[in-house]
Amino acid sequence: MTDSDHTRSFSRVTRYYSQQFLQAMGIYGAEFPPDSRLSVPRIRALLQDGSYQLIVAQQDRQVIGFALIWVSRRPVFVHLDYIAVAHEWKGEGIGTALYRWLLARLANFHPRAQLLTLEVDDSLIGFYQRSQTKLLHETPYLFPGPLGPVPMNLMVHDTRGRSTLDRAAVRGIMRGLYCGLHGRSSEDVSLQSCLNTLPAQIFLT
Ligand SMILES: CC(C)(COP(=O)(O)OP(=O)(O)OC[C@H]1O[C@@H](n2cnc3c(N)ncnc32)[C@H](O)[C@@H]1OP(=O)(O)O)[C@@H](O)C(=O)NCCC(=O)NCCS
Repeated sequence: MTDSDHTRSFSRVTRYYSQQFLQAMGIYGAEFPPDSRLSVPRIRALLQDGSYQLIVAQQDRQVIGFALIWVSRRPVFVHLDYIAVAHEWKGEGIGTALYRWLLARLANFHPRAQLLTLEVDDSLIGFYQRSQTKLLHETPYLFPGPLGPVPMNLMVHDTRGRSTLDRAAVRGIMRGLYCGLHGRSSEDVSLQSCLNTLPAQIFLT
């Protein structure tokens, strides 16, 4: 997966000791607080076993942004776990371009993928809504953080452009994130509280 204009490109990184990888990890370390980061060896292990995929944005060969993608296979959906742009490049459209590049290539991550999901705090809802991504309305979600549950929002980009999702689909996403991505039990108290408050139809706004 590669795409480029004269100097800017987006591509998948498959060598986990390369300059591209190390530059992306430099941005990761600078842009996310320690309690929301995985260690670099852990990220490398997740990439090596196929759990994660790393996409980088480059300008004149310098990595200026990255995204880490996790793919759920049961049910099938693509999750954007981290996205960041280097401090000096913020506000120039790189994050939007990288995000939209990912949306246009969901099938490359899984041939049956119809949804890209995100766990988002309030300040970033507008950033994603500008790119055909919707909020799961009245769907309280607790992010299972290392220091305890953190209230967040779930957002989705749906390739089918639906305006609602049914409860079973959202339960599948929540279980997938908790058990598959975050390594929690299906009996997790926070997960159960999220599942139990879901209406029959979830509106996407
Ligand atoms: C979020 C992020 C990837 C956006 O990248 P970017 O290249 O700066 O974004 P763009 O230039 O495409 O878009 C900028 C717009 O997004 C908004 N935006 C970006 N980050 C924002 C934030 N944290 N809170 C609120 N708005 C934000 C800006 O206000 C700006 O809006 P404007 O065009 O109306 O002025 C980047 O700010 C970043 O790396 N943040 C730190 C890591 C992070 O929070 N990642 C997301 C969660 S995983």
